[in-house]
Amino acid sequence: MKRAKTIALVAGFGFFFLALLVQGILPYLLKPAAGISSREVTRTVRTPLGDLAEVKAEAAPVTDGGEKRGRAIYLREGCWYCHSQYTRPAAGEERRWGPVSEAGEYAHDLPHLFGTRRIGPDLLRVGGKYGDDWHTAHFFDPRAVVPDSVMPRFTWFFRTEGGRQVLNDEGRAVTAYVQSLGMQKGKWRDAFPYQNVRSGSASPEAAKSAERGKQVYSRRCAGCHGEKGDGKGTSPKDVLFTIAQPRDFTSGVFKFRLTPTGSVPLDSDLYRTITAGIRGTAMPPWFNLSEDDRWDVIHYIKTFSPDFSEYPPEAPIVVPQPPKPSPELVARGRRVFDEMKCWECHGREGRGDGPKSDTLEDDFGNRIPPANFTRGIFKSGPRAEDIFRTFMTGLSGTPMPSFADSFASPDDGWALTYYVLSLSADGGDQP
Ligand code: HEC
Ligand code: HEC
Ligand code: HEC
Repeated sequence: MKRAKTIALVAGFGFFFLALLVQGILPYLLKPAAGISSREVTRTVRTPLGDLAEVKAEAAPVTDGGEKRGRAIYLREGCWYCHSQYTRPAAGEERRWGPVSEAGEYAHDLPHLFGTRRIGPDLLRVGGKYGDDWHTAHFFDPRAVVPDSVMPRFTWFFRTEGGRQVLNDEGRAVTAYVQSLGMQKGKWRDAFPYQNVRSGSASPEAAKSAERGKQVYSRRCAGCHGEKGDGKGTSPKDVLFTIAQPRDFTSGVFKFRLTPTGSVPLDSDLYRTITAGIRGTAMPPWFNLSEDDRWDVIHYIKTFSPDFSEYPPEAPIVVPQPPKPSPELVARGRRVFDEMKCWECHGREGRGDGPKSDTLEDDFGNRIPPANFTRGIFKSGPRAEDIFRTFMTGLSGTPMPSFADSFASPDDGWALTYYVLSLSADGGDQP
């Protein structure tokens, strides 16, 4: 009996001091060796040359564009009961959600919201994963966008306006908070593998089943794009989308292509769009669907428009290897931007406020603002070749024209690309 007590005591003290050593003293001693203070985080930024670079940054408390209030509502509603905010250094979490948590990121986030229960996904890196429109639809009715969801509806985040649901002050604050999560890491998402799928590969024949594609479509896409593919889904009927309307696939009009203006896209263009999503809009990334599901659903959405069978895709443009960015190229890009009158729509400083910007509409009669390059959030993709592709092919169905025939030399195209990218250097982290 006495012996057992002694063993328990020794073991108890032993483990206590072991924990103290491992979690308290060792990290303190090892800190200078790792060369980074525990309050610091690394941050991915765009350099003035348009490249991505990793820098050290100081931890910062939640800033306030409504996020503080949003955080209080997050606590009040018990979101933390189902959602953790800690990407663990284990078993593929990095591939699912993004870079693992760093000490400095939560140093100021008091009380800590790590959480341990994951009834829903980890939210540490969710900022910028979806556009505000997606969160709006999701808060109003999670099952309209994610059929199996057990997340409750938060209808009290809404008010009615013109027969449609729009976020009220509380709803906007929570959305701002959710969109700020993980943004201390800056532009890491631009380097995230799924955001960097390339066009070019053909769809595997084996995975072309319109029947299975239809199942995937009804479950995942019909809520927004409609059962008939006409863009009239159930969730946008209730909720007012403010950024972009779900595409009507019967029109056969697609923005993001390697094929010239007027042509339908390649299958691989659709694969890229579906995998990466369309950032800033309600269109989410679908990298978590199996590859076969993605190819099958592509096969199915092509059946909505006769254009795909009547007019096969034209030959894709060739995107040459980009040269290394340099200050000279960026300066030259600025001149090309002036000469080609990109500023008429995008504004002199690329803020999307050019003289023509107020009047633009897309083919479906919706108002469409020209992209604000200083935000650094690109619908068509974050890499140099994505920007290059966009102004070479134009975005069909929108006022954004093709400039394929306007370049004196291909280097002018790359110069323009790096200039556009440089406009979001260092800042522009809002989702
Ligand atoms: C009963 C548990 C539960 C509660 C409470 C809850 N959620 Fe969720 N949430 C889920 C589940 C399950 C999912 C995954 C399915 C889905 O996307 O709807 C999810 C998904 C999400 C996502 C998408 C994450 C991703 O990476 O796809 C966000 C954002 C989110 N919830 C925010 C919130 C916020 C904000 C609150 C509080 C206002 C909240 N949730 C409350 C269970 C919950
Ligand atoms: C929450 C709403 C929502 C869901 C769910 C959704 N989409 Fe979208 N989708 C959109 C919106 C909004 C756009 C238009 C974005 C724009 O034009 O800027 C869009 C556009 C598209 C485009 C057009 C791309 C182009 O090149 O013009 C394709 C293709 C697409 N979606 C496929 C899908 C597929 C496949 C699914 C299901 C796996 C899906 N979407 C689910 C909202 C959604
Ligand atoms: C007539 C107006 C107009 C002109 C001129 C114009 N654009 Fe655009 N541009 C737009 C609109 C509108 C969009 C947004 C399309 C959308 O959101 O779907 C856009 C989008 C873009 C995008 C895509 C951003 C993203 O989110 O991926 C790039 C890149 C771009 N423009 C570059 C240029 C460049 C470079 C020039 C000059 C060579 C130029 N644009 C000239 C109207 C214009």
